[in-house]
Amino acid sequence: MVTAHIAAAPGDFAPDVLMPGDPRRARRIAETILQDARLVTDVRGIEGFTGTYRGAPLSVLASGMGMPSVTIYATELFRFYGVRRIVRVGTAGALPASVGLRDVVVATAAHTDSAMGSSRVDGVHLSHAASFGLAAAAARAAQAGADAGARADGGTGPRTHVGPVFTTDHFYLERPALFERLEAHGTLAVEMEAAGLYATAAAEGGQALAVLTVSDHVRHAQALTPAERETDFDRAVTIAATSLLP
Ligand code: ADE
Repeated sequence: MVTAHIAAAPGDFAPDVLMPGDPRRARRIAETILQDARLVTDVRGIEGFTGTYRGAPLSVLASGMGMPSVTIYATELFRFYGVRRIVRVGTAGALPASVGLRDVVVATAAHTDSAMGSSRVDGVHLSHAASFGLAAAAARAAQAGADAGARADGGTGPRTHVGPVFTTDHFYLERPALFERLEAHGTLAVEMEAAGLYATAAAEGGQALAVLTVSDHVRHAQALTPAERETDFDRAVTIAATSLLP
């Protein structure tokens, strides 16, 4: 079967998919955590892989950047390839000072400034919410990992936060007043895809979650280097993959 953006055969994708934004990260995830990974699609350089994780079938496919791109890939996976659950593993910019670089954010909901959601049901602002079972499983997986990490590092290592994020269409727009208001409403971080993924899962009868690594601080001008972004990403990937295990 070939859809507009994916060229895979029926059954090539597992029912569960990890979805980073960056195609190189999809390959790295396949090479580091999947057993027996095989390439199942590479349209436009967006490679998809299927293998197993701790014995369970699992696929990886990049989303590209932004809500239009993640909406395309998630729709095709849910609608045409039998995918039931997608967990985004990406980066985000922190809003409150209590969320630090390298911390993980499990996004239970996603506010957005995008107009994409408003065209789904006329006159209604749909809630963009994560699937409860996935979010609870990710929080448990993070807790288990954090407990082990806390023993090893004396409690100084990265932490996990569970709550809402802001999905924006604008990476470079300077909006300090908006970020201040969002933080005052309990928003943990800014990213560019979760709301699109959650809306698509709701429309297609699937399940979705975003597990995000904090790569920069929106209000305090801090950022990881590109090399740090790669290595510090692994914890979120493990939490995401563990949350999909039976
Ligand atoms: N992804 C990572 N950091 C981000 C930021 N500051 N804004 C939007 N998306 C991001």
